Amino acid sequence: MSKLFRTKPLDQLFAESEDSGKGLKRSLTAMSLVALGIGAIIGAGLFVRTAAAAANNAGPSVTIGFIIAGIGCAFAGLCYAEFASMIPISGSAYTYSYATMGELMAWIIGWDLVLEYALGAATVSIAWSEYLNKLLGYFDLRIPFEWCHSPFDVLTDAGGQVVAHGIMNIPALFIVFLLTLLLIKGARESSLVNALIVITKVTIVILFIVFGWSFIKTSNHTPFIPEPSTYTDDQGVPHNFGGILGILGAAGVVFFAFIGFDAVSTAAQETKNPKRAMPIGILGSLAICTVLYILFAYVLTGVAGIEDFRRAGKEASVAYAIQTYMIGYGWLAKLVTVAILAGFSSVILVMLFGQSRVFYSMSRDGLVPKIFSDIHSKFRTPYKSNILFFLFVGMFASFVPGDIVGDMTSIGTLFAFMLVCAGVWIMRRTHPEIQRQFKAPLVPLVPILGIIVCGAMVFGLGWANWTRLGIWMVIGLVIYFAYSFRKSKLS
Ligand code: ALA
Repeated sequence: MSKLFRTKPLDQLFAESEDSGKGLKRSLTAMSLVALGIGAIIGAGLFVRTAAAAANNAGPSVTIGFIIAGIGCAFAGLCYAEFASMIPISGSAYTYSYATMGELMAWIIGWDLVLEYALGAATVSIAWSEYLNKLLGYFDLRIPFEWCHSPFDVLTDAGGQVVAHGIMNIPALFIVFLLTLLLIKGARESSLVNALIVITKVTIVILFIVFGWSFIKTSNHTPFIPEPSTYTDDQGVPHNFGGILGILGAAGVVFFAFIGFDAVSTAAQETKNPKRAMPIGILGSLAICTVLYILFAYVLTGVAGIEDFRRAGKEASVAYAIQTYMIGYGWLAKLVTVAILAGFSSVILVMLFGQSRVFYSMSRDGLVPKIFSDIHSKFRTPYKSNILFFLFVGMFASFVPGDIVGDMTSIGTLFAFMLVCAGVWIMRRTHPEIQRQFKAPLVPLVPILGIIVCGAMVFGLGWANWTRLGIWMVIGLVIYFAYSFRKSKLS
């Protein structure tokens, strides 16, 4: 029994950290970490999931959902920052928990992070496919519905009659394939490319807020919080709509838009003075995005109405809203579309990279097969792992609707965040002596609030998502007891 809670000794962790950090240049500053964070954060969550949450859960009060999600992330972010300043090693939440809460918990988190990274990548690639179609539309071209949607997606006419079924989302598969090839060749976004993408993304968000503001219709914002009811979407899935449950559900859905700030913590070994820069990087990028998101959601739900997001504007919703309601701003719709395609690609790249890094660490610890840490002789990348994850991510991108993979990503990540909050608290009790350059304030209050707020969002995501998370975790536990427990290097 106690073996389940065996922890990886901190000394060993620090030694590995030094070892694996050899050769990595410490060049990143707090500012570059903020840029790294924003580069990984702004993506499909804002440009696709916001409209989905407005349509299915909360109408204009999705704006409040963003506030709740931002608060939950701030609490979890403080805990992440403490961990990152204490154990400056890549591998993210998985590594932290191996040192603190023991192997079983580390396994659960590592397994759970597959939902965050791999399914997150699938979600963004599905969003990429929507905006690609939008771009083609500007040239009067179009990919047939069947070949850019999953078999669970249907196209309905104005009367609600089904006119087409999806078969396979080929563009989503294509972009995952392309970025996997880049990863295998060892491409990591250079700071310069990342900086350009960040500037572009932030610029289009600000342009939309500024120009869209005067197109807000009060009628679209009234009532701001819809009366509680149930809304059944095209796929026949019922959602709590309106009221507090609707807002919590929306918060869980748009939580996706914040995922990625934890990616900053993976760059600890390449950072100058990580103990100071990490918290600034994590919390700074989070703060900037939260403000932008709230304003953006407020404008988007004011420019177009719920019915738009349920029907004609369901896909590529931001470009749709601009084109349809912001007369004279066709150029902005086009600019947004092109910028988003580039911005989404960078998010997918970061997620695929993060996934291979986590499984690399797990494989080095013996918890998953060695194939995940086999390195290509020339490119020095875990290419076999990249290929396996291409198949896994590609399957979800091709055959599962964006709503489902998006919500699975959210719930998986929320769960991981709750465990990280608990970890900081536990660590303060079990290892008070370790030096922490950054300390989360008011422990245990902050971790407890983090657990409560993230837990509320998990609750808001509803039973279908709880079931999916449960099934994923059961599969993970079976693998752990059948394989990882015995193969662990610690055993
Ligand atoms: N936060 C990232 C996005 O919204 C995952 O695309």
